[in-house]
Amino acid sequence: MNFAERLSRLPGYPLAELPARKRELIARGVDVIDLGAGDADYPPPAEVIETMRQAAGQTALSKYGFQQGNPEFRRAAATWMQRRFGVQFDPVRELLPLLGSKEGLSHLALAILNPGDLAVVPEPGYQAYLGGVLLAGGEPIRYPLTPRTRFLVELEDLGPEMLSRVRLVYLNYPNNPTAAIAPTEYLARVVALCRRHRIVLAYDNPYCDLTFDGYRAPSIFEIPGAREVAIEFFSLSKSFSMTGWRLGWAAGEAQLIQALTRVKSYVDTGPWLAVQQAGAFALDNAERLIAPNLVELARRRDAAVAALRAAGFECETPAATMYLWVPLPDGVLSADFTRLALEEQGVVLLPGSAFGAGGEGFFRVALTVPAERLSEASRRLGLVLRGARAA
Ligand SMILES: Cc1ncc(COP(=O)(O)O)c(C=O)c1O
Repeated sequence: MNFAERLSRLPGYPLAELPARKRELIARGVDVIDLGAGDADYPPPAEVIETMRQAAGQTALSKYGFQQGNPEFRRAAATWMQRRFGVQFDPVRELLPLLGSKEGLSHLALAILNPGDLAVVPEPGYQAYLGGVLLAGGEPIRYPLTPRTRFLVELEDLGPEMLSRVRLVYLNYPNNPTAAIAPTEYLARVVALCRRHRIVLAYDNPYCDLTFDGYRAPSIFEIPGAREVAIEFFSLSKSFSMTGWRLGWAAGEAQLIQALTRVKSYVDTGPWLAVQQAGAFALDNAERLIAPNLVELARRRDAAVAALRAAGFECETPAATMYLWVPLPDGVLSADFTRLALEEQGVVLLPGSAFGAGGEGFFRVALTVPAERLSEASRRLGLVLRGARAA
């Protein structure tokens, strides 16, 4: 078979092989603890499931949704943004329902980039940014997220010549996988720079509701001037544990939303209208429905941080997301460590290198199982660490 060149530019997808390997281990009787994918074990809120049950029985909601989708969902998303961030968006012209935010993030590149155009992707980072840029024929600039910049992308580091050629920047705070958050002063600098260089800023915000200890994650549109350059992506996946339902949306200035709509109108026909109906209910009741999960996530975070420290790891307590980003001792490769964790101890982790070479030296823990299981997993990881140090 002859495949397109663009296919060979795509690196292997990090989560692709894990489910099969996990099944093999379980079949062998191993007590597997899966801290790999960002997919919590708890169900979507019961009332959202009930809304979905009823919506599924309505014939009108079984029809093609097209990009327009369910007006109720557009209304609920705009109302939620107003309530949550104090920003106003026209539900018809400035919002677009997505089949989960992943496809929107990836498809955006097709609307923005000409072949060879530069796009900044954080590394480690969510793979849809890199994939979208490569599929669009763009040239990714992989910006390393390291403790030096507190895991922030400092665009000035690229220098004026390169910046003048950048068309698109992906940013994600609260961040997957590093769990870093972005200070307002930083976001203001980014927006100013994007305006100066006419760069489209794709602000990926699926973790904005998973915050702890009083921290409130902003929308990029809280920054003055952001409307000129930004498009923001939201998702119901993480906040409501609805990963498989595939529902999110993009918000931004009408021209940008129109451009993404145009691409998508040739690729998909929008999320199931019944899912959008249930999503509208979820957003209208977001604060009440998310609160119990936040208590649970904070409990898990605290248990895992304490147990990992006791097991010999240096581990910070993040203010947001459902992840811990844990450094490894010098010289221990993340893929080696996570392979041993899986093969010897039945603990599924993602190596930092799975998020791009810039993630080397770390592994990611997803807080997707109860606190006791996280403590047990941490104890086992301590054994792997001791073995790695002795080797
Ligand atoms: C940073 C980031 N962005 C976007 C997504 C996509 O979420 P979804 O497509 O389920 O809305 C994820 C999911 O893991 C993510 O971690």
